[in-house]
This record gives sequence, C-alpha cells and structure tokens, in this order.
Amino acid sequence: MSKLANLMVPGVAGAGVMIGAAYMLANTMVPEVHAPVAETMGLTAKAESAPAPVPMVYALGRPATPEEVAAWDIDVRPDGHGLPDGSGDVWTGEELYIDNCAVCHGDFGEAIGRWPVLAGGQGSLTDDRPVKTIGSYWPYLSTVYDYVNRAMPFGNAQSLSDDEVYAITAYLLYLNDLVDDDFVLDQESFAAFEMPNQPAFYMDDRADTEYALFTGEPCMTNCAETVQITARAAVVDVTPEDEAAREARAAAHEAEEAVVEVAAVAAEPAAVEAEPVAVTEPAAAGPDLIAAGEKVFKKCAACHQVGDGARNRSGPALNNILGHPAGAVDGFRYSSVFQDMQAAGLVWTEDELAAFLTAPKTYAAGTKMSFRGLSDEEDLTAVIAYLGSFAE
Ligand code: HEC
Ligand code: HEC
Repeated sequence: MSKLANLMVPGVAGAGVMIGAAYMLANTMVPEVHAPVAETMGLTAKAESAPAPVPMVYALGRPATPEEVAAWDIDVRPDGHGLPDGSGDVWTGEELYIDNCAVCHGDFGEAIGRWPVLAGGQGSLTDDRPVKTIGSYWPYLSTVYDYVNRAMPFGNAQSLSDDEVYAITAYLLYLNDLVDDDFVLDQESFAAFEMPNQPAFYMDDRADTEYALFTGEPCMTNCAETVQITARAAVVDVTPEDEAAREARAAAHEAEEAVVEVAAVAAEPAAVEAEPVAVTEPAAAGPDLIAAGEKVFKKCAACHQVGDGARNRSGPALNNILGHPAGAVDGFRYSSVFQDMQAAGLVWTEDELAAFLTAPKTYAAGTKMSFRGLSDEEDLTAVIAYLGSFAE
C-alpha cells in the first residue's frame, strides 16, 4: 500500500499522512474502484468503521448470449478438455508455419533475432543459460495449442482455424523432435501425448516441506566474523565487491588464462604426431572461418548434431561427413532419393556439399531435409569448414 500511496501522492511523508491521502483518493478521485482492488490498494481502511455499501445496479448492458460466451470459452486443459473437433498433420503444419510464424520464430523454431525460440534446448535446463522451449520445458501440450490458438500469429491473433492450429501444433512437436513426420494431431493423439518435461513439474509442496522450518525468530547467534563471497552471479555480474576483491579476481582470471595458453602450446606437438592425416581439409580453414561456420550451423542445429555424443535427430548426425558416402550414417532413416544417392556411390566432397546445401530440394528432389538452402557463399564455405572440423 505505501508504495502505491507514495506513487500517487509523491512527497508525502509518514504513514498517517499517507492514509489520509488514501481516504481523500477513495472518497473523491476513484469512487468506483473495484472493491478487491481497493482493498489491495489500501483504500478500504475507512470501510471497516463505515456501514457496508449498498450494491448499486446501473441498468447498463445485457447478459452475454451463449454464442458470445462460446467465443470466449476457448481454453484447453491438460487432459484435452475443451479441444475442438478437428485434426492436422505435420506437413500441413509446416506450410502454415512457414507462412504465418517463420518471419519471427525462424524456419525451424530457432528464432529470428530476439523473438522467442520455439525448438531445441533439450537437456539444457540445468545449464547456466537454460534454453526453455516448448520441447525442453513446457509440461503440457494443451499450453502449446492454447497459446497458438489464443495469441498467435502475433498481431493477427485468433485468425487460424481449428484444423490449422492442430497442424501447426503438430509441426511444433516435429520441430522439437517429439513426433515423426507422419504424426497427425487430433483429440485422440492429443490425449495420448505426454511432454518430455512433464514429470519435472510437481505441485507446490512448500507448505509441507519448508514452512515448518521457518520459525519467525531471526537467528542472532554464531554469526561469521567477516563476510566472504563464496560464489558469484557470474553471468549477470551482480555480486557486489570492493576494489581489492575486484583486483584479486582479475589477477586470478589472468593467471588461469596463462595456464590454459601454456597447456595449449604444450599439447600441440603431441596432437600433430597422433593425427598425421585426418585433418588435411580443415587445416586450411582458419579458426575464424570455423567459428563463423558454427554460427551458420545454428540454422542446422534444430535437425543435426555434431561433436561428442552427437546422435541422429530429425536429420542424421554429421560428424565426419566430409569425405563420407552420402546417405550412410548408421541408424538414420533416409528418404529414397538419399538411398539412391548412396547406392550410386556419391561421396560428400566440399563441392558436392556446397551444391546440396545451396539448394537441397533442387539437388536432391524429394529429400526429407526441409531446408531452403544457404544463399550466402561465405556462409556456405564457413559451415562446410565447420563440418570439416568434426573429422575423426
Ligand atoms: C510478428 C512476430 C510473431 C509471429 C508472426 C508469430 N509469433 Fe509467436 N511469439 C511472438 C512473440 C513476441 C512472442 C512472445 C509473446 C510474449 O511473451 O508475450 C511469441 C510467443 C510464442 C510462443 C510461446 C513461446 C514461449 O516459449 O513462451 C509460441 C508457442 C508461439 N509464439 C508460436 C507461434 C506460432 C505457432 C506462430 C504462427 C502461427 C507465431 N508464433 C507467429 C512473435 C510472433
Ligand atoms: C529441418 C531439418 C533440417 C535442417 C534445418 C537441415 N537439415 Fe540437413 N538433413 C536433414 C535430413 C532429414 C536429412 C536426410 C535427407 C534425406 O534423407 O532425404 C539431411 C541430410 C543432410 C546431409 C547429408 C547427410 C548424409 O548422411 O548424407 C548433410 C550434409 C546435411 N543435411 C547438412 C545440413 C546443413 C549443413 C544444414 C544447415 C545449413 C542442414 N543440413 C539443415 C534435415 C535437416
């Protein structure tokens, strides 16, 4: 209350004056304020002594019609209650998504600029910077359906038909690797679907687990002699510190970097001996180019993984792909055009990769890789260099 009173009557000091100001407001300026709101605003202090107000009827408006109520009543519950009749499949959803959503959320849910990311982030929730998406975080599919139905496309909300919302929701699941491309979403498949992070949500149990530990008595014994900062909010850098501590930390940081550099120098000759040939291609690609390629690869990462522990997702894992036969990553289900390429003995040289990645659908008509292609030649060179850096 005091915050609000201060806000509305700046400069008044002392609780007595503030309550007086609140009376004045309640009586003169905002007489129609909603009762519960008035209570939170601290405007009802006087009501305690005054007789209960007589409710007034203003003879305005009319009861809502059933149709009007139905138009508002669009919420969907986790168990599917409230879902309309209808259905939609992944590929229909893809087209709708490209037309209505990709300008902001990116072709693969990776997001353009600072619009929200809709796909990926699996396994990142315990990282310093978790990526919370539908797939990595959201507990219920009903939220996805309802959110899209209610609020998207941003600026043109509630313009989609029920079938379209079903299809887009199916496609969002596909982008998050949660369903195959032949998935169809309807009331039945909805009811059978469980989001991967659902089990991590539970009812707030603090009343049982924590409140009992709160005594209300501040502990004033056994206090530490001096304050010592033992951990830092490093990412946002909000932990306060004095000058000496800041210098000590900077010095420690420099020392750490020096150790890393020395280690890198020491490790170099050994690495060269151990690996005499494997890295001929990427050796020409400088670290800058590879770093640029890593950025470009964000466009691919919704479907492809590289590096340690890379596995097949909606696209095959791409370690070692340079110089590798096409369509031949273990355990991946390729389209028939890729199976034909493999049978024909195609090998992924830099040139073949460049041709494929420039225009996947032209290069391999019928490919499952639904990716428009890279038009920028620098991006192309960079991403190929990046892929080349994952040679074994
Ligand atoms: C003009 C840009 C724009 C378009 C087009 C757009 N969105 Fe959004 N979307 C947003 C913004 C902005 C938010 C965040 C809104 C907020 O937080 O209040 C958002 C949030 C979302 C979220 C929630 C993300 C999260 O993790 O909180 C989903 C899901 C979503 N959009 C789906 C879609 C779908 C599906 C479409 C196409 C039918 C679409 N959006 C079209 C801008 C857009
Ligand atoms: C929407 C998902 C998706 C995106 C995004 C995507 N790919 Fe693919 N990629 C696939 C699929 C699926 C295949 C298998 C094609 C098939 O079977 O027709 C594939 C195949 C490949 C292959 C051939 C692998 C092999 O085993 O022969 C390479 C190389 C490749 N993609 C690289 C990339 C690169 C680089 C990018 C980003 C610039 C990218 N892809 C973006 C899904 C994707």
